[in-house]
Amino acid sequence: MTDEPGLTRRPRRLRTDGVRPLVRETTLAASDLIAPVFVDATTDERVPIETMPGHERVPVTQAAERVAEIRETGVEAVIVFGIPESKDSEGSQAWADDGVVQEAVRGITAETDAYVITDVCMCEYTEHGHCGLIESSAREDPTLTVRNDETLSALARIAVSHAKAGADMVAPSAMMDGMVGAIREGLDDAGHTDVPIMSYAAKYESAFYGPFRDAADGAPTFGDRRHYQMDPGNAREAMREVELDVEEGADVLMVKPALPYLDIVRDVRERFDHPVAAYNVSGEYAMLHAAAEQGWLDLEETAYESLLSVKRAGADLIVTYFAEDLAERL
Ligand code: PBG
Repeated sequence: MTDEPGLTRRPRRLRTDGVRPLVRETTLAASDLIAPVFVDATTDERVPIETMPGHERVPVTQAAERVAEIRETGVEAVIVFGIPESKDSEGSQAWADDGVVQEAVRGITAETDAYVITDVCMCEYTEHGHCGLIESSAREDPTLTVRNDETLSALARIAVSHAKAGADMVAPSAMMDGMVGAIREGLDDAGHTDVPIMSYAAKYESAFYGPFRDAADGAPTFGDRRHYQMDPGNAREAMREVELDVEEGADVLMVKPALPYLDIVRDVRERFDHPVAAYNVSGEYAMLHAAAEQGWLDLEETAYESLLSVKRAGADLIVTYFAEDLAERL
């Protein structure tokens, strides 16, 4: 039975099955998604990541195979993280020609057509687990922090080594001041003028990275990252951070994490015309999995709704551990 006439405005008219897809404002496509891949130089078999169900660290020899699996779901872009064979105080394996990411990228580009992005950072490569070079006395004095300017040349060197190995795009995540400019200059000087930079422009000092640190073995062995990553209470500061990256030549602007920071995603979308990326981080993934395991939430539905919300907030691209599962559904 239809309702009695009287109301002229009835939003429900546009909620019937036939018309809902026509008036949907936001859509998700496999081409919006970037899948993280963990390549581990310390193993010759795949190792499940306990805190991130469904994800594994794969040996270098299986990097291309892993990416081929992702491509089969319809996801075309990956972001590669490396666990090196050894760590030192300078993180020298991060820029080694035969480093884990460099070797993996060579394999992936030789065997697949994936769009290959690399994470440019030092925390997986330094013994102390910080995202740059530190004073040797920092361990005793927690107020000392990563040495910004000395770290810049290392980051540029890492980015160039990734580009040289065949990376299509580099994504610096160290949150050093001047990092994008230093990397742009390094890439250009080395002839990689066509390699874009997706900057982790507004990256917060977040407790949601916990499961990733287990996956990538990049937790700081002392202290935390609050001297370089952003304070979760700050939104206006994010605009200053992003603006600097734009001035320094960033091509894509990333906000990280995603769901707890949708206001920042929206602010960046409104203030800048660059493509906006959001990183739906490990903790966001682990949360839904844990609840789903208890039978409290439907994993597929909540994952879809979460990522749709990230797009609705203004993101063009989403880095997410749900990429494969979601693409299969789409
Ligand atoms: C490296 C890096 C981190 C993440 C991406 N790149 C860890 C960190 O900053 O501590 C986190 C990703 C995630 O939680 O999914 N700096």
